[in-house]
Amino acid sequence: MRSTIAVTGVTGFIGKHIVEKLLRQGFRVRALTRKPRTSATDHLVWVAGALEDRRALDELVRGAECIIHCAGQVRGADEDTFISCNVSGSVRLMQAAQESGSCRRFLFISSLAARSPQLSWYANSKHVAEQKLAAMSSPVSLGIFRPTAVYGPGDKELRPVFTWLLRGFLPCLGDPASRLSFLHVSDLSEAVCQWVMQPGAEAGPVELCDGIKGGYSWQRLQELGSAIRGKPVNLISIPLPLLKLAAGFSTLTHRFVGKDPMLTHSKIRELTHRDWSASNARAYECLDWKPEVSLERALREGLF
Ligand SMILES: NC(=O)c1ccc[n+]([C@@H]2O[C@H](COP(=O)([O-])OP(=O)(O)OC[C@H]3O[C@@H](n4cnc5c(N)ncnc54)[C@H](OP(=O)(O)O)[C@@H]3O)[C@@H](O)[C@H]2O)c1
Repeated sequence: MRSTIAVTGVTGFIGKHIVEKLLRQGFRVRALTRKPRTSATDHLVWVAGALEDRRALDELVRGAECIIHCAGQVRGADEDTFISCNVSGSVRLMQAAQESGSCRRFLFISSLAARSPQLSWYANSKHVAEQKLAAMSSPVSLGIFRPTAVYGPGDKELRPVFTWLLRGFLPCLGDPASRLSFLHVSDLSEAVCQWVMQPGAEAGPVELCDGIKGGYSWQRLQELGSAIRGKPVNLISIPLPLLKLAAGFSTLTHRFVGKDPMLTHSKIRELTHRDWSASNARAYECLDWKPEVSLERALREGLF
């Protein structure tokens, strides 16, 4: 039997895939959850609580040798919402790891956005979290993954875009020549497993994408969609004022129903950024990993 890994964010899109992969590889998993769970097994123990609850975090990391910190605030109407979860919550989890007596390694699932903290509250919170964790982690060994936009089964953000692309419509945010990149969730989960199985794989922030050099422009996505459907795809430029109007409306309606909005003015700067291309160079150096699912393959085979 393999070692015990504590994982956060397991009830979310990416965390779910990571845990399934770890369990398939024979690891024991302790998983943090804010929702009631009844499906515990010999290999999977649910720990009730949140990043705000230090006692729950102590319980989560008890006996674990590694932590995969995947929980994160990805939507919100103000900066505090992102800072309190992504920064303060991550620091609290690191403190629990340091005091656990068992935990030697900590993998922070950051984001490519951390590379450009000026763009959004989300990007800045991931950047600040990386800095704080790096400054305080000793003696725990810290790994940082910066995945680009992740998609795959269970994703709600990119799925509609790819579905519309294959129906012949591609909404374009910002400059059609902007560079984008993508990563299939199965490749991200595999990279996490490889990190767990390779002590010493910690080497500064590691960008992760599907390996297509230079990424994709909106125009390249349009070409891919056309080639796969055998018919043209309309690239529909969304004017910035319309995007801002939608963000204002979304913020207002989400406030009304008490939920966190994804589309905000802060998010627009991130979505329309000109360069979200990523490089796997560092990942190839420190991990025994190569992505297997290019976006083209995912679109052709419906892997999203
Ligand atoms: N999706 C992407 O394209 C992408 C790209 C790069 C990096 N990332 C990073 O990957 C991680 C997972 O993203 P995702 O797309 O899977 O997001 P998601 O589906 O929204 O999942 C977020 C997870 O974090 C948990 N969580 C949030 N706040 C928490 C708190 N205060 N205490 C405990 N748990 C909390 C959520 O729990 P509940 O279920 O209880 O809400 C959920 O399990 C995030 O850190 C995100 O920044 C995502």
